[in-house]
Amino acid sequence: LSCYSKIIGARYYGASRPNSSPSARDNHGHGSHTASTAAGNIVNDVSFFGLAQGNAKGGVPSARIAAYKICQPDGCSDEDILAGFDDAIADGVDIISVSLGAGGQAEASDFFNNSIAIGSFHAMQKGILTSQAAGNSGPSYGSTTSVAPWLISVAASTTDRLFIDKVVLGDGRTLVGKSINSFASPTTTFPLLHGTQVSIRCSVNDAMNCKPGCLDKTMVKGSYVLCNSYGGYSEAYNAGALGVVMRNEPYLDVADIVTFPALLLNATEHDLVLSYVNSTKFPKARILKSETMNDAEAPTIASFSSRGPNSITPDIIKPDLSAPGVDILAAFSPLATPSFSSSDPRHVPYTIMSGTSMACPHVSGAAAYVKAFHSEWSPSAIKSALMTTAYPISDAKSLGGEFAYGSGLVFPVEAARPGLVYEALEEDYIIMLCSIGYDAKKLQILLGDTNTACPTVTASPKDLNYPSMGAEVVPERPVNIMFNRTVTNVGIENSIYKAKIVTNSKLNIEVEPEVLTFKAVLEKKSFVVSVSGSVPVNSRLSASLVWSDGSFSVRSPIVLHAQSIRA
Ligand SMILES: *[C@@H]1O[C@H](CO)[C@@H](O)[C@H](O)[C@H]1NC(C)=O
Ligand SMILES: *[C@@H]1O[C@H](CO)[C@@H](O)[C@H](O)[C@H]1NC(C)=O
Ligand SMILES: *[C@@H]1O[C@H](CO)[C@@H](O)[C@H](O)[C@H]1NC(C)=O
Repeated sequence: LSCYSKIIGARYYGASRPNSSPSARDNHGHGSHTASTAAGNIVNDVSFFGLAQGNAKGGVPSARIAAYKICQPDGCSDEDILAGFDDAIADGVDIISVSLGAGGQAEASDFFNNSIAIGSFHAMQKGILTSQAAGNSGPSYGSTTSVAPWLISVAASTTDRLFIDKVVLGDGRTLVGKSINSFASPTTTFPLLHGTQVSIRCSVNDAMNCKPGCLDKTMVKGSYVLCNSYGGYSEAYNAGALGVVMRNEPYLDVADIVTFPALLLNATEHDLVLSYVNSTKFPKARILKSETMNDAEAPTIASFSSRGPNSITPDIIKPDLSAPGVDILAAFSPLATPSFSSSDPRHVPYTIMSGTSMACPHVSGAAAYVKAFHSEWSPSAIKSALMTTAYPISDAKSLGGEFAYGSGLVFPVEAARPGLVYEALEEDYIIMLCSIGYDAKKLQILLGDTNTACPTVTASPKDLNYPSMGAEVVPERPVNIMFNRTVTNVGIENSIYKAKIVTNSKLNIEVEPEVLTFKAVLEKKSFVVSVSGSVPVNSRLSASLVWSDGSFSVRSPIVLHAQSIRA
C-alpha cells in the first residue's frame, strides 16, 4: 500500500438521506474531476481513449486537497453545505472551491437566505477566498445565482481545442458534427436508415424524431439510424442500432461523450444527409472516431454558462471571471462511467466534462497559485489580482458581454504580479449590505454576532471597493455615475500609474486624478471615475479603465446597464 499526501482530508455529509452512501468516496466522478483541475499532480500521457492526449496537471500540482462531499443523490442541502464550510474553515484550508449552485432556473437568493453566500462570508472573515461556479442556466440574462461580492463567480469559456466527429456517406462526402465518440472508425460502411424506415408503430413525425418506443429492434439491427432530433440518441441506443446521426437543434456548443457511435450535425449538414438517404436506394455510412482540432474562435463563453446581471445587487457585475469549462479532460472516479449511464461498461481514469463546475476549479487553482506567492493577502486582494489581470474576451462572440465573462479570461501568471489591488474587508461588505437594507438582525445571520450595527454612512453597492465598476441606471435618461475606488500598491516602490480609458463612444468617462504616484509598497491611493451617458432600454454600455505604470496593467471593466433579467 502506498500513501500519498495529495488528499489530506475527506469528509461526507447527509448520509441519512435516500440512496446516500456513508463514505467520502467519489462514486459520481464530478468531485475527482474538479479536484484534479484545481490541484491534481502532473500525470504524463493521459487521454480519453487517445483523445486530447497530453500531460495533465492541476492549477497548483503541489497543493493538497481536503474534500467535503456535501451532495448526495437527492441533492445538496443547505445544512450540509454550511457544515462543509464550517469544517473547511476549521481545518484551515487556504482556498474553497465550490463547483455547486442552485440548479435549473432557480432564482438567486438573498445573501441571508443562501448557504453558499453565508458560508463564503464566514470563510472571508477567516481570510479564505471562495471560488464558485456561476451556474449552467445560461444564456438568459440574470440566470446566475452566484451573486455575493465576497466570493469569485466563474463563467465557462471554450478553449482552443474543439472535439469533432465525422460521418462519411456512401457517396464519399464527409460531414463534420459534434460528439466525443471513442469508438474505433469502422473500415467498412453500414446501412444508414431514416427513423421512418425502421419504425412500424409510430406516425411519420414521431418516427422521424426517433421518439421513445418508435424504432423496431429487428429493423435497426446492424444499421445506423438518422434521427431529426437530439432525443433520438437514447431510443436508437435502446433499440440496439449500430449508431445514430442526430440534428443539433436547439444548438448545443459542447460535445458530449456517447455510449455508441453517435454525432450531432447542424441543420444544414443534417439536411444534406436527409436528402442523401431519401435519394439513395441503399444509403450507407461510416461514423468515425472523434478527433480534436484547433478552435480559432476561442475563447468564447459557452451558451450554458449563467449570465448576469446580478439579480440581488445589480451594481456588482457578475460573473467575475471566466475560465475553461467546455470539454475539459481531468481525473475521474473508477466507480463512475464517463457517460454517467449505468449501461456504459467503460471505466476511465481521465474523462471529458463541461460546465461552470469545470471552470470554477481553474480559478480556485489560480487563486492558490497567487496565494502561494502572497500568503498574507486578503481574499479580496487575491480576487482583485485575478480579475484585473484577466485577458479580455471579445464582446462580439459572447452573448451578454461582461454579463457573460465578467472581467475576462483568468491569466494566472499575471495574477501573481498585479501591481495594484482593490481591497475590501469585512467592514466594507457590511457597509454595502447596510446600503441595500440589511439591518442588525439580518446581519446577525451572516455574521453570527449580535453587536454589529449599520454605520450611518450613505453609500450604494457601486461604492464597494470592487475590481470592476458596474451601475444599474434608469434607461433613456442622461446619468452621471461616480465610482470611488482605492487601490493598494502591491508592486514596487516609487511607481507612477497613469489612467487609460478604453472608451465607448456613447459614454463620457473621466478619472480624477489621472495619475497615481506611490512612494511605498502597501501605500493606498483613491480616485473617482465619473461616467456620463444615456443607456438604451434593456441594454448595457461598457468601457474599461486601465491603470498602467509601463510594467503592470490593472484593468477594470466599467458597465452602465438597464438590463432586465430573464430576457
Ligand atoms: C454547419 O457545419 C459545417 C461544418 O462544421 C459548417 O461549415 C457550417 O458553417 C455550419 N452551418 C451552420 C449554419 O452553422
Ligand atoms: C426526406 O424524407 C423525409 C421522410 O420521408 C421527409 O420528411 C423529408 O422532407 C425528406 N427530406 C429531403 C431533404 O428530401
Ligand atoms: C466619492 O469621492 C468624492 C470625491 O472625493 C466625494 O465627494 C464623495 O463623497 C465620495 N462618495 C462616496 C460614496 O464615498
